[in-house]
Formats: sequence, C-alpha cells, structure tokens
Amino acid sequence: MQGRFTEQDTERYYDSHDPLYRAFWDKDGSLHWGVFDDTTGNDFLKACANLNNIMVQKGLIDQNAQVIDLGCGNGNTSIWLSKSTGCRVLGVDLSGVRVQNANDELKKQSDEVKQRINFEKASVTDLPFHDQSFTHAWSQATIYHVHDKEKALLEAYRVLDYGGIFLFDDLIKPKPEVSDNAKKYVYDRLLFDTDFSFDGYQQALEDTGLPDHRGCRPLRASEDKLCPPFGASRRNQRQ
Ligand SMILES: C[S@@+](CC[C@H](N)C(=O)[O-])C[C@H]1O[C@@H](n2cnc3c(N)ncnc32)[C@H](O)[C@@H]1O
Repeated sequence: MQGRFTEQDTERYYDSHDPLYRAFWDKDGSLHWGVFDDTTGNDFLKACANLNNIMVQKGLIDQNAQVIDLGCGNGNTSIWLSKSTGCRVLGVDLSGVRVQNANDELKKQSDEVKQRINFEKASVTDLPFHDQSFTHAWSQATIYHVHDKEKALLEAYRVLDYGGIFLFDDLIKPKPEVSDNAKKYVYDRLLFDTDFSFDGYQQALEDTGLPDHRGCRPLRASEDKLCPPFGASRRNQRQ
C-alpha cells in the first residue's frame, strides 16, 4: 500500500516541527506513545517509559544485542536503550534535523556509551546496511508515516540476522471508513495514511516472509492495560 504522503512531506514536517512538539509533548524530544497502568497513573512520560521497558523485556534485549532503531527521531530512546541494557544501537531517521539532535545528545554521553551508538540519516525503506546486520529491529511511532510500508517491513526483515526479533509499535486504521473530523485532526495532521487494519498488518508481515508473524499481537487492556498495537516477530528461519 502506497501512502498519500511522500518521504519529502514527512522529512519537511519533522525538520520543521521539532520545537513545537518539544513545547507541548516532551521537552527532551521523544515522540511516541505509552502504556498506562497502575505504575504510571496518567503521566504520559511514565507511560512512554513503561512501553519501552515492556518492549525491552519482550524483545529479550541485553548487552549482546545489536539493535537498529528505525525512525529514531531525536535519539532519546536509542540512547536510553543502550544505557539501560548495554546493547549497541544504530539509529536511522529521515529527518536531518533529528539526526543532528540525536548526535548532539550523544555528545553529552560518556565515552563508553558513545562507542555503542551511532546515528545516520536514512530512510527505513532503503537501509544502507548489509543483510543480517542486526539482532533486533526496533521501531516506535514511525511506520505509519512511511509511504511504502511493505518496503519498510521488507528492509527490517532483510537487515535482521537469523533468530532476530522485530519489535515495533504503530498506528493502524481499525475500520475502513473514518469520520471527516478524525481524518482532518488525526490522520492528516499526523501525516498518517494507512489501510492497515490489525489483520492487514499481519498479512503484510506474512507477505514479507517474516516466518513467525503470527507472534504479532496487540497488547490488550486486560493483558498489559493497553492500547497501541504492538508486534514482536521472531525471525528464526530463512525463507
Ligand atoms: C513520531 S516520530 C517518533 C520518533 C522516535 N521513534 C520516538 O519514539 O521518539 C516519527 C519519526 O519517524 C521518522 N520517519 C518517518 N518516515 C521515515 C522513513 N521513511 N525513514 C526513516 N525515518 C522516518 C520521522 O522523521 C520521525 O523522526
């Protein structure tokens, strides 16, 4: 499925909107969503941290992991990931402004942390890395922007090593028709265009050849008290 918004639209949007988001969302420039539960109350930033921790746990990320952060934005999560687990992280993002922000943030870290992290400007649809370079592909609040989502999923699969794990959260379109207001104030404002329902997403993952895509499942309110769809696919065999 090809989205309405081009990569140039998205790049321009994120290059220019950084100060606005920091002003009302998160001053450190982390831009995703969270899992609210008893430990977070209504605190958005705690809920974001909660989601990050859940993804680390479910993804079994430890000091041996080599992670690619697809759409790393300002790099906060990549830096947090490496600092909290000891893993190596390579963050890529379409926005040159954000990659610069991420590198500026990295300069403030210890030499030990700096050695484990790199940021590069690149599109998730055309990753400048060899096949099977990473143990984990991690992506938060990014794929919904991507013009050619199938290509992004194929690239994630390509750069994952055998047994690698793809962890992501994303927006889906739960029903085929949305109201004009939802379209105007949510979809268009966020440059969000997708035909992916949850089932459609699973089908797209299957089409990439991700072998264990059925492991992809949403967190349910009854399970982890949440909300956004959250997938974990384990690549454990060559197709
Ligand atoms: C909502 S932000 C999330 C950033 C980060 N993952 C976080 O959680 O803070 C979405 C990010 O995806 C990036 N992005 C969108 N399309 C992309 C693409 N095709 N390739 C790489 N990055 C992309 C944007 O530039 C932006 O930084």
